[in-house]
Amino acid sequence: MIGSRFSYIGRILALLQVLPGILAWGKEGHYAICKIAEGFLNEDAATTVKALLPDYAKGDLAAVCSWADEIRHNFHWRWSGPLHYVDTPDFRCNYEYCRDCHDLSGNKDRCVTGAIFNYSMQLMTYHESKSTSEWKYNLTEALMFLSHFIGDVHQVCFFLPDLENMVS
Ligand SMILES: *[C@@H]1O[C@H](CO)[C@@H](O)[C@H](O)[C@H]1NC(C)=O
Ligand SMILES: *[C@@H]1O[C@H](CO)[C@@H](O)[C@H](O)[C@H]1NC(C)=O
Repeated sequence: MIGSRFSYIGRILALLQVLPGILAWGKEGHYAICKIAEGFLNEDAATTVKALLPDYAKGDLAAVCSWADEIRHNFHWRWSGPLHYVDTPDFRCNYEYCRDCHDLSGNKDRCVTGAIFNYSMQLMTYHESKSTSEWKYNLTEALMFLSHFIGDVHQVCFFLPDLENMVS
């Protein structure tokens, strides 16, 4: 099982190597990352994740890990676009949250790390109120956003323009 997971990742990395232009994980990448993550959930966390997943996911977190990409260009969700990435200034190899985490209009916290913090904090309130009607936020959406952004932030070339050197 673990072997086949790693060979799947291996194939993805091999694909990245032959296509140095690729800048995002895509659907398969996000699926694989979430499949691996599912294996690390303890019983409690797995039960909570299953309870939050929409019915169409059929209990599989990986099935919803591309949701954030699928909706980001819809009018209703356009605000979520800047949450998929973070830009650092040209010719700087470091990242500073206060300097870099904002959208193009300069709104603070609107970047991928700000979103990870936001949705993690929302999910931590799950045990405080068990019923959907008491939730301040939609925790199903929080889970789907978080599982996607964790993938985005681990993209091989996320902060590195020179992908070829990175993977070889
Ligand atoms: C935090 O999550 C809420 C609910 O999705 C969203 O309205 C808000 O824009 C998010 N903020 C950040 C910084 O991600
Ligand atoms: C929470 O979000 C999901 C996905 O957008 C949606 O299908 C569901 O109806 C929402 N739940 C509530 C209580 O608004």
